Amino acid sequence: PAPGWTVRADVVVVGSGVAGLTLALRYVALDPGAKVLVVTKDVLSSGSTRWAQGGIAAVLDPRDTPEEHLSDTLVAGVGLCDEEAVRILVTEGPDALRGLIAVGARFDTDDSGALQLTREGGHRRDRIVHAGGDATGAEVQRALVQAVAEAGIEVIEHALVLDLLKDAEGHTAGVTLHVMGEGDRDGVGAVTAGAVVLATGGMGQVYAATTNPVVSTGDGVALALRAGAVVRDLEFVQFHPTVLWLGEHSTGQQPLVSEAVRGEGAVLVDADGTRFMKDVHELADLAPRDVVAKAIMRRMRATGADHVYLDARHFGEEKWRTRFPTIHAVCLEHGIDPVTQLVPVAPAAHYASGGVRADLRGRTSVPGLYACGEVACTGVHGANRLASNSLLEGLVFAGRIAADIHAVRAVHAGNATPVAGEPVPDDRPTGLIDPRARSRIQAHMSRGASVLRGQESLGEVARALLNLRWTPVTVEPCTESWETTNLLTVASALVAAARERRETRGSHWREDFPERDDAWWLGHLDTTLTTEGP
Ligand code: SIN
Repeated sequence: PAPGWTVRADVVVVGSGVAGLTLALRYVALDPGAKVLVVTKDVLSSGSTRWAQGGIAAVLDPRDTPEEHLSDTLVAGVGLCDEEAVRILVTEGPDALRGLIAVGARFDTDDSGALQLTREGGHRRDRIVHAGGDATGAEVQRALVQAVAEAGIEVIEHALVLDLLKDAEGHTAGVTLHVMGEGDRDGVGAVTAGAVVLATGGMGQVYAATTNPVVSTGDGVALALRAGAVVRDLEFVQFHPTVLWLGEHSTGQQPLVSEAVRGEGAVLVDADGTRFMKDVHELADLAPRDVVAKAIMRRMRATGADHVYLDARHFGEEKWRTRFPTIHAVCLEHGIDPVTQLVPVAPAAHYASGGVRADLRGRTSVPGLYACGEVACTGVHGANRLASNSLLEGLVFAGRIAADIHAVRAVHAGNATPVAGEPVPDDRPTGLIDPRARSRIQAHMSRGASVLRGQESLGEVARALLNLRWTPVTVEPCTESWETTNLLTVASALVAAARERRETRGSHWREDFPERDDAWWLGHLDTTLTTEGP
């Protein structure tokens, strides 16, 4: 749609989690005179970051080494990590974490003031810092929101990003937005900028049950696809093994039970009280996340149950209250006392290891368009992200992207060539989808493209999604219809990739191709809109 208002900026950051806010702060530190604008779909702290529990993985213990963090990350990623990207992540990670502490984030320390380090699945060392026990993301978000306010960075809230604007040369020239209730910036508008950073987070809402908040509708990936950018490895959606199981209420955003609970000694048991992880992996309950999720699914199938249990009764009241106050409170809210009872858990969609393909400077395949954090596929996660590497990725790559944008703008300032020309109007029809289709998309995805998938189930989902796309209804442009359109776009691309990858690897588990197949499939699946479907 034609924009009703226009704002000019030098850099526009779309999204306000750890990636977006760190990026904005890092950029203004490099170029204090630049106009950096953060746009966010809801309020500043409504994204996934604040829900993170476990923490941030970083090599801080003198007995630990970046080589070991690298090795654990590569093992979890099952052959599909980009080793150079992982090396950057693990070597630049500790400084990026110290940068976050410098802007005001407070992490848990021991009596001597040293950062407390814990462990999660796939880590062979204690290297995860946490805050407020199990409220790490909330503290990270709090500190960043405060720092952004103190730095005077301009923010537009309630602004859903629609599409990328390009100039006549195909270079990024800004974005269009749909803004609600923000005074003279209400309705559809445009922000022009030569550099656009997608930091829109994940797409967990394509499934019926997810740890992701309601705003995680894959907007950045959908925008990138519409803009002709390459999207990579969408089939690798990670299912968190231990999400509180709420019976018939297990739809929408679900409460997470952090892997750190297992890191501190909790174990998985089935309804008979049998510990089933001991025979599955040498790290038992602390095996990489995909291994644990699959083992739980197998056990649920074998016993006909719809969940298993976490046993952490031995923590006692004091440890539950002080080390895991958030999880403890949520369990009590749902009538489960983890001090005396087993905690029912099942896997649910958690994290997109794939996303918009981005290089080591965060550049996508469209000039001037960057991707940072969960929306990006930099190669650090491969087929299965290692626990607590996600906030870390946002921190590390935000700094690299800020430096790259600054360097590019410096070159152009020198020869007076504008970084981007005037946007070319985009008059393609939007083909908006009826918001009532949202729950149908989620139900189809959870039924056929979930932790277990096969050619038949994926084919059924693909047909159902196609039907939804072609159901003729006139739809009002509004946040809900745009979100549903984005969900359908990313769900279709995800299913297409999952149908193509005929092997089992990481978080992609094909029942009809149960083995990992390095001869054919040790590579990435790139998608553009032409392969995503009509
Ligand atoms: C958790 O606390 O288990 C989640 C951590 C993560 O997803 O990295």
